[in-house]
Amino acid sequence: MTPKQPPRDCGLCPRLAGFRERHRAAEPGWHNAPVPSFGPLDAHLLIVGLAPGLRGANRTGRPFTGDYAGDLLYATLLEFGFAAGRYDRRPDDGLALVDCRVTNAVRCVPPENRPVGAEINACRRFLDGELAAMPRLAVVLALGTVAHASVLRTLGHRVSGFKFVHGAMHVLEGGPILADSYHCSRYNLNTGRLTESMFRSVFEGIRATIERE
Ligand code: URA
Repeated sequence: MTPKQPPRDCGLCPRLAGFRERHRAAEPGWHNAPVPSFGPLDAHLLIVGLAPGLRGANRTGRPFTGDYAGDLLYATLLEFGFAAGRYDRRPDDGLALVDCRVTNAVRCVPPENRPVGAEINACRRFLDGELAAMPRLAVVLALGTVAHASVLRTLGHRVSGFKFVHGAMHVLEGGPILADSYHCSRYNLNTGRLTESMFRSVFEGIRATIERE
Protein backbone atom coordinates (compact mmCIF):
# COMPACT_ATOMS: atom_id res chain seq x y z
CA MET A 1 0.00 0.00 0.00
CA THR A 2 1.43 3.39 -0.99
CA PRO A 3 1.83 5.59 2.10
CA LYS A 4 -0.04 8.86 2.25
CA GLN A 5 2.18 11.69 1.01
CA PRO A 6 1.69 15.31 2.05
CA PRO A 7 -0.31 17.28 -0.52
CA ARG A 8 1.52 19.84 -2.64
CA ASP A 9 -0.07 22.66 -0.64
CA CYS A 10 0.23 21.00 2.76
CA GLY A 11 -0.72 23.57 5.39
CA LEU A 12 0.22 21.68 8.56
CA CYS A 13 3.16 24.00 9.25
CA PRO A 14 2.30 27.67 8.59
CA ARG A 15 5.94 28.80 8.79
CA LEU A 16 7.07 26.22 6.21
CA ALA A 17 4.07 26.93 3.98
CA GLY A 18 4.95 30.64 3.98
CA PHE A 19 8.59 29.92 3.19
CA ARG A 20 7.48 27.63 0.36
CA GLU A 21 5.13 30.28 -1.07
CA ARG A 22 7.91 32.87 -1.11
CA HIS A 23 10.14 30.48 -3.02
CA ARG A 24 7.36 29.57 -5.44
CA ALA A 25 7.14 33.26 -6.34
CA ALA A 26 10.92 33.72 -6.55
CA GLU A 27 11.79 30.42 -8.25
CA PRO A 28 8.76 29.16 -10.20
CA GLY A 29 10.85 26.49 -11.94
CA TRP A 30 11.72 24.73 -8.67
CA HIS A 31 9.79 21.88 -7.02
CA ASN A 32 8.93 24.08 -3.97
CA ALA A 33 6.63 21.50 -2.34
CA PRO A 34 6.85 18.58 0.10
CA VAL A 35 9.50 16.19 -1.24
CA PRO A 36 8.20 12.63 -1.69
CA SER A 37 10.21 9.60 -0.60
CA PHE A 38 12.39 7.81 -3.12
CA GLY A 39 12.91 4.06 -3.54
CA PRO A 40 10.94 0.82 -3.35
CA LEU A 41 8.53 0.12 -0.49
CA ASP A 42 9.62 -3.51 -0.24
CA ALA A 43 13.16 -2.44 0.74
CA HIS A 44 14.94 -3.71 3.86
CA LEU A 45 16.55 -0.30 4.49
CA LEU A 46 14.91 3.09 5.09
CA ILE A 47 17.18 6.14 5.36
CA VAL A 48 15.71 9.13 7.19
CA GLY A 49 17.28 12.53 6.62
CA LEU A 50 16.42 15.84 8.24
CA ALA A 51 14.60 17.98 5.66
CA PRO A 52 15.07 19.03 2.01
CA GLY A 53 17.86 21.47 1.30
CA LEU A 54 16.70 24.77 -0.23
CA ARG A 55 18.64 24.48 -3.48
CA GLY A 56 18.83 20.69 -3.39
CA ALA A 57 15.78 18.49 -2.83
CA ASN A 58 13.47 21.52 -2.62
CA ARG A 59 14.63 22.52 -6.10
CA THR A 60 14.80 19.08 -7.71
CA GLY A 61 11.97 17.26 -5.89
CA ARG A 62 13.97 14.13 -4.98
CA PRO A 63 15.48 13.63 -1.51
CA PHE A 64 19.15 14.66 -1.26
CA THR A 65 19.29 15.31 -5.02
CA GLY A 66 21.36 18.35 -5.88
CA ASP A 67 22.35 18.72 -2.22
CA TYR A 68 25.96 18.56 -1.11
CA ALA A 69 24.86 15.77 1.25
CA GLY A 70 23.55 13.77 -1.70
CA ASP A 71 27.00 13.46 -3.27
CA LEU A 72 28.27 11.32 -0.40
CA LEU A 73 24.96 9.60 0.30
CA TYR A 74 24.36 8.38 -3.25
CA ALA A 75 28.04 7.52 -3.86
CA THR A 76 27.93 5.34 -0.73
CA LEU A 77 24.63 3.72 -1.72
CA LEU A 78 26.12 2.88 -5.12
CA GLU A 79 29.25 1.45 -3.48
CA PHE A 80 27.22 -0.83 -1.19
CA GLY A 81 24.78 -1.99 -3.85
CA PHE A 82 21.85 -0.03 -2.45
CA ALA A 83 21.63 1.92 -5.71
CA ALA A 84 22.18 1.19 -9.38
CA GLY A 85 22.96 3.46 -12.31
CA ARG A 86 24.55 6.85 -12.02
CA TYR A 87 23.87 9.73 -9.69
CA ASP A 88 23.99 13.02 -11.53
CA ARG A 89 22.29 15.46 -9.11
CA ARG A 90 19.10 15.47 -11.22
CA PRO A 91 15.88 13.53 -10.60
CA ASP A 92 15.97 12.25 -14.20
CA ASP A 93 19.51 10.83 -13.95
CA GLY A 94 18.13 7.28 -14.03
CA LEU A 95 19.47 6.38 -10.58
CA ALA A 96 17.47 3.54 -9.01
CA LEU A 97 17.54 2.56 -5.36
CA VAL A 98 17.95 -1.14 -4.63
CA ASP A 99 16.48 -2.57 -1.41
CA CYS A 100 16.62 0.96 0.00
CA ARG A 101 14.25 3.92 0.36
CA VAL A 102 15.11 7.49 1.32
CA THR A 103 12.85 9.97 3.10
CA ASN A 104 13.07 12.96 5.42
CA ALA A 105 11.79 13.59 8.96
CA VAL A 106 10.35 16.87 7.62
CA ARG A 107 9.17 16.99 4.02
CA CYS A 108 9.29 20.75 3.39
CA VAL A 109 12.38 22.92 3.32
CA PRO A 110 12.78 24.84 6.60
CA PRO A 111 14.43 28.27 6.89
CA GLU A 112 18.11 27.92 7.85
CA ASN A 113 17.76 24.13 7.51
CA ARG A 114 16.23 24.05 10.99
CA PRO A 115 12.74 22.66 11.50
CA VAL A 116 11.19 23.46 14.89
CA GLY A 117 9.70 20.82 17.20
CA ALA A 118 6.09 21.49 16.16
CA GLU A 119 7.03 20.97 12.49
CA ILE A 120 8.86 17.72 13.20
CA ASN A 121 5.86 16.54 15.20
CA ALA A 122 3.35 17.57 12.51
CA CYS A 123 5.28 15.80 9.76
CA ARG A 124 5.68 12.59 11.78
CA ARG A 125 2.36 11.26 10.46
CA PHE A 126 4.06 10.85 7.06
CA LEU A 127 7.09 9.08 8.54
CA ASP A 128 4.65 6.85 10.38
CA GLY A 129 2.97 6.05 7.06
CA GLU A 130 6.31 5.15 5.48
CA LEU A 131 7.28 2.77 8.28
CA ALA A 132 3.87 1.11 8.21
CA ALA A 133 4.03 0.64 4.43
CA MET A 134 7.38 -1.19 4.39
CA PRO A 135 6.63 -4.87 5.10
CA ARG A 136 10.26 -6.08 4.89
CA LEU A 137 11.85 -3.21 6.79
CA ALA A 138 14.89 -4.44 8.77
CA VAL A 139 17.01 -1.31 9.35
CA VAL A 140 16.18 2.38 9.65
CA LEU A 141 19.20 4.62 9.30
CA ALA A 142 18.75 7.96 11.06
CA LEU A 143 20.96 10.72 9.72
CA GLY A 144 21.35 12.93 12.76
CA THR A 145 19.56 13.42 16.05
CA VAL A 146 16.32 14.87 14.68
CA ALA A 147 15.71 11.81 12.51
CA HIS A 148 16.80 9.51 15.37
CA ALA A 149 14.28 11.02 17.80
CA SER A 150 11.49 11.20 15.26
CA VAL A 151 11.89 7.54 14.29
CA LEU A 152 11.82 6.50 17.96
CA ARG A 153 8.69 8.55 18.65
CA THR A 154 7.01 7.18 15.51
CA LEU A 155 7.67 3.65 16.70
CA GLY A 156 6.38 4.43 20.20
CA HIS A 157 9.74 4.31 22.02
CA ARG A 158 11.05 6.74 24.60
CA VAL A 159 13.78 8.92 23.12
CA SER A 160 15.61 8.89 26.47
CA GLY A 161 15.94 5.11 26.21
CA PHE A 162 18.15 5.21 23.11
CA LYS A 163 20.97 7.75 23.05
CA PHE A 164 22.09 8.95 19.62
CA VAL A 165 25.61 7.58 19.01
CA HIS A 166 27.24 7.62 15.61
CA GLY A 167 27.63 4.01 14.46
CA ALA A 168 25.19 2.59 17.03
CA MET A 169 22.70 -0.09 16.05
CA HIS A 170 19.80 0.04 18.47
CA VAL A 171 17.74 -3.11 18.76
CA LEU A 172 14.13 -2.01 19.16
CA GLU A 173 11.66 -4.48 20.55
CA GLY A 174 9.36 -5.77 17.87
CA GLY A 175 10.67 -3.43 15.23
CA PRO A 176 13.48 -2.62 12.84
CA ILE A 177 17.03 -1.94 14.01
CA LEU A 178 17.72 1.76 14.35
CA ALA A 179 21.17 2.66 13.01
CA ASP A 180 22.62 6.09 13.79
CA SER A 181 24.96 8.21 11.72
CA TYR A 182 25.98 11.80 11.84
CA HIS A 183 24.25 13.58 8.99
CA CYS A 184 26.31 13.64 5.79
CA SER A 185 25.97 17.43 5.59
CA ARG A 186 28.59 19.78 4.23
CA TYR A 187 29.05 21.19 7.74
CA ASN A 188 29.75 17.79 9.31
CA LEU A 189 32.17 16.81 6.55
CA ASN A 190 33.98 20.14 6.59
CA THR A 191 34.39 20.10 10.35
CA GLY A 192 35.54 16.48 10.36
CA ARG A 193 32.72 15.34 12.65
CA LEU A 194 31.94 12.84 9.88
CA THR A 195 34.45 11.41 7.44
CA GLU A 196 33.76 9.32 4.35
CA SER A 197 35.29 6.32 6.06
CA MET A 198 33.06 6.76 9.15
CA PHE A 199 30.05 6.91 6.86
CA ARG A 200 31.19 3.83 4.97
CA SER A 201 31.57 1.90 8.26
CA VAL A 202 27.93 2.57 9.06
CA PHE A 203 26.94 1.00 5.74
CA GLU A 204 29.22 -1.98 6.34
CA GLY A 205 27.25 -2.62 9.53
CA ILE A 206 23.92 -2.17 7.79
CA ARG A 207 24.88 -4.46 4.92
CA ALA A 208 26.01 -7.17 7.36
CA THR A 209 22.77 -6.83 9.37
CA ILE A 210 20.61 -7.15 6.27
CA GLU A 211 22.63 -10.15 5.01
CA ARG A 212 21.97 -11.91 8.34
CA GLU A 213 18.20 -11.40 7.94
N1 URA B 1 18.56 16.84 1.57
C1 URA B 1 17.57 16.05 2.02
O1 URA B 1 16.69 15.64 1.29
N2 URA B 1 17.60 15.74 3.33
C2 URA B 1 18.53 16.15 4.16
O2 URA B 1 18.49 15.81 5.33
C3 URA B 1 19.55 16.97 3.64
C4 URA B 1 19.53 17.29 2.35
